[in-house]
Amino acid sequence: MSRAKERRTVRERDHTGTDTSLTKALTPTQMKRLEKALRRMGEEEEKIMTIKTEIGSDIAQLTRICFRFFAPVYDRHMEKTGHYRALREALDAFIIKRQIAGSLLDVSCGTGEALLHVSDFLNSLKIDVTANDFTPEMLDIAKLKLAGFLRNVTFTSSDIRTLPSEVQYETVLCSYSMHDMPSPKDGPIQRMVAAVKLGGRLVSIEEWPCAVTNSEHLTTAVQSLLRLSETPIERTMLRALYEKYGLEHVEDGSFKIDDNHFLYGTVYGKKG
Ligand SMILES: C[S@@+](CC[C@H](N)C(=O)[O-])C[C@H]1O[C@@H](n2cnc3c(N)ncnc32)[C@H](O)[C@@H]1O
Repeated sequence: MSRAKERRTVRERDHTGTDTSLTKALTPTQMKRLEKALRRMGEEEEKIMTIKTEIGSDIAQLTRICFRFFAPVYDRHMEKTGHYRALREALDAFIIKRQIAGSLLDVSCGTGEALLHVSDFLNSLKIDVTANDFTPEMLDIAKLKLAGFLRNVTFTSSDIRTLPSEVQYETVLCSYSMHDMPSPKDGPIQRMVAAVKLGGRLVSIEEWPCAVTNSEHLTTAVQSLLRLSETPIERTMLRALYEKYGLEHVEDGSFKIDDNHFLYGTVYGKKG
């Protein structure tokens, strides 16, 4: 690496080791909306200050805060609203009906529902699974749910934007997560593509249009936090990014969530 490039790389990392070229701060309006939502949730001023400090200049940390509050009701909400039914259909089509081998990374496994659904299949093929998510409260639920069901599983808590580049997998799965990552989406997409072995596959499962749906499980305050942290990305834009960073489109399909929106799944391949 040249001296100039090395200096720039060092400058782009702050004291916490975060690559600041991948981070973006909340605008003052977003900050006000965040404070309002937290007050509606009954959080005390001191706690609100702590959360604001936690987010700092990285809007992606807001996602982590959101899922901290969403985690206890996430499964019930996703089941009630039809999201999980559609997810299971997509997994049947793109994981279970496909020949896969070796290793699989679920980059943002949430509470582990996708892995739970395909656990018998993964066990039967002796697939080495990595279940990753950067929200501890979501990952803790995944650990509980998958215990005794998924045999070869390792849990990790990396931020997708800093996934270790030296580890690669035959299959990388990303479900219901791209809208939770701030734009530009290039950073996480590049990392996910780098995590796919040559000859491997990436399975992308996302909803469109992206909407925060109602259920009795989700309070309006958590809904407003979700709206604040989401940056939806349209199907063709997402495909263009995966292709830009080296994947080839293999197949796709859509699955109804409800009368207003769909889950769309796309399989990409990485050619040698
Ligand atoms: C809507 S949930 C989807 C969870 C699961 N994949 C599913 O299908 O139910 C989005 C998940 O992405 C995780 N996430 C968002 N941004 C992330 C990042 N930069 N690194 C790691 N995980 C992230 C969140 O913590 C959350 O658990």
